[in-house]
Amino acid sequence: MAAYKSVLISGASSGIGHALAVALAEPGVTLHLGGRDAARLAAVAVSCRAKGATVAERLADVRDAAAMADWAGQAGRLDLVIANAGAGAGIPDGTAEQAWQVRDLFAVNLDGAMNLMLPAYDAMRAQAPGPDGVRGRIAAVASLAAFLPTPGAPTYCAAKAALDAWTVATATPARAQGVILTSVCPGYIRTPMTAANRFPMPGLMDADRAAAIILRGIAAGRVRVAFPWWVAAAARFGGLLPPRLSGRILSRAPGKAGLPEHR
Ligand SMILES: NC(=O)c1ccc[n+]([C@@H]2O[C@H](COP(=O)([O-])OP(=O)(O)OC[C@H]3O[C@@H](n4cnc5c(N)ncnc54)[C@H](OP(=O)(O)O)[C@@H]3O)[C@@H](O)[C@H]2O)c1
Repeated sequence: MAAYKSVLISGASSGIGHALAVALAEPGVTLHLGGRDAARLAAVAVSCRAKGATVAERLADVRDAAAMADWAGQAGRLDLVIANAGAGAGIPDGTAEQAWQVRDLFAVNLDGAMNLMLPAYDAMRAQAPGPDGVRGRIAAVASLAAFLPTPGAPTYCAAKAALDAWTVATATPARAQGVILTSVCPGYIRTPMTAANRFPMPGLMDADRAAAIILRGIAAGRVRVAFPWWVAAAARFGGLLPPRLSGRILSRAPGKAGLPEHR
């Protein structure tokens, strides 16, 4: 029997979201899948229906708070919500010309996730608990970038750090109300987001494998799922160095690739 009967995933049209949707697809499961690219989202929906799932597609931008609240509110009972949509463009500094990009990356990676998680949290607290006492689960896809501020991707790191911190801090009071929160912090995953990177990516992993690790962590009720463990450990260690030293070391590394199509 399916672990979750009703699941909502943002950013399901590509990469990790696509892999999560397909991994969760089975008879008896309804998947609410979100994205902006209609053709890619439809292709994911076809794969999920082929595995027996019922699929409802939602074309919406996570920066649109009203659309996210409407989506979470209209979906009916939700066992699992995964705020996965994100954009990874690198921004070398915060000059005036780049101010809009800085704000936009926060809008997608931080506000965009909160636009979905907050209404989902509200709705889940009002749901009846299941036999295990759990009313629902919410996962935020942050990143190992949350652990280590990197000069090549300052806004991405900051947005993911804030998302991780909010999720971890809220997990304890949420659990007392029957809602399980999980912050997901992946390392490098092979998706269109990393395809443009022209530098070595330690621990690079396929999206299907990442999806399996994420879903195991969510099912186990983990507050944070950070993987691969050795990349997470290295990021944590780097974060403990004096910032001037880590900044000097990391500024030699190339920045995160820009992805104009995701803006
Ligand atoms: N790949 C990695 O190495 C890695 C590592 C750590 C964390 N992450 C995080 O994992 C998540 C998924 O990334 P990915 O690697 O799977 O990237 P991806 O293949 O580029 O997919 C990104 C997804 O987010 C959606 N999205 C982007 N901006 C959006 C917006 N404004 N409104 C609605 N949807 C939007 C995209 O939908 P459309 O294309 O349809 O607009 C797409 O479905 C992101 O939060 C990312 O930061 C990735």
